[in-house]
Amino acid sequence: MYSSKIAGIGHYVPKNVYTNNDLSRFMETSDEWIQERTGIKERRFADRYEETTTTMGIEAAKVAIERAGITKDDIDFIIFATLSPDYYFPGCGVLLQREMQMKEVGALDIRNQCSGFVYALSVADQFIKTGMYKNILVVGSEKHSFAMDFETRSRNVSVIFGDGAGAAVLQRATKEGQGILSTHLHSDGADAEILAMHYPGAHANKWLKDKPAFPDQELGGLFITADQIESGAALPYMDGPAVFKKAVVKFPEVINEALAANSYTAKDIDLLVPHQANLRISQYVQQLLGLPDDKVFNNIQKYGNTTAASVPIALSEAWEAGKVKEGDLICLAAFGSGFTWASALIKW
Ligand code: UT7
Repeated sequence: MYSSKIAGIGHYVPKNVYTNNDLSRFMETSDEWIQERTGIKERRFADRYEETTTTMGIEAAKVAIERAGITKDDIDFIIFATLSPDYYFPGCGVLLQREMQMKEVGALDIRNQCSGFVYALSVADQFIKTGMYKNILVVGSEKHSFAMDFETRSRNVSVIFGDGAGAAVLQRATKEGQGILSTHLHSDGADAEILAMHYPGAHANKWLKDKPAFPDQELGGLFITADQIESGAALPYMDGPAVFKKAVVKFPEVINEALAANSYTAKDIDLLVPHQANLRISQYVQQLLGLPDDKVFNNIQKYGNTTAASVPIALSEAWEAGKVKEGDLICLAAFGSGFTWASALIKW
């Protein structure tokens, strides 16, 4: 079996910067509240008309492909992770394939929210290991700004999330002991609804039976109703404190699982790149693992939480800053909606 390695990593963030003070023009919030609770100072929002989840993913993909020293024609499989796709269906993978004029290779979309990129990496790793593909493009991209509500009623969600994209090219590792050592994937759907976008969706007849918006007709009409749009029910929903409580347990758990599986301990980590959910979560995990500041990479201060894009953006920035070097032990970890959580341990 072959190991896989990340041969190239890249990212793209839109140029529109919105500071916390900018958001307080739209809703009752403050720079002080946001920084104290989340560590976020500013985030990027995509151009409303010109940029989409796919176009940002393409920009990140171009960088990753160039850094891998290959061309788009060498890519033999595409995996695209996002919760904010251009279309409800088809997924962004095929749109990227079309816009980049790639060969008619397979394209798979992954819907695992904040842990989407680590899940995607794990899937790519299996295909490389079996020898089925040689150059897999893995993308995580989000355009949250198009579906968020910038009124006070949604302030616990809309001050946290930002737009952006990251991408990686996976190839067979050439050196013994190099590459992705292991990946670890988990889920628990018991609390699926506490961090979710409930509408539009096919669940309506299960959850809406007693609701006044339930239309009086035999078939159809349940995907989304005008009432749901008007009342704000078709907006992302998050019970922040409940998510926080679970995240601070599952992050360290899945990191330790990856370390134990490879006979390492936390002190062996050269860089931990956690999903950028909340600076307070990262700091708590850092403290629990006993890691010094320079071994944990955080950039949530600049970009907010970019969900499936956050791990590859952070990894790409860390690589650019010289914090990811050959031979380093890198740990990626993520937790989010589902709940799903995951980790990957990489010998770079
Ligand atoms: O990517 C993975 C998914 N997401 C996460 O991991 C997020 C995990 N959760 C969190 O990061 C935190 O729970 C939040 C940052 C979302 C919220 O922080 P919190 O300390 O848990 O605040 P809270 O939701 O308990 O709200 C405390 C107060 C409330 O007011 P009252 O009821 O005490 O009067 C909120 O209405 O803060 C209020 N509030 C705000 N105030 C100013 C909520 N959002 C805001 C806001 N600005 N943006």
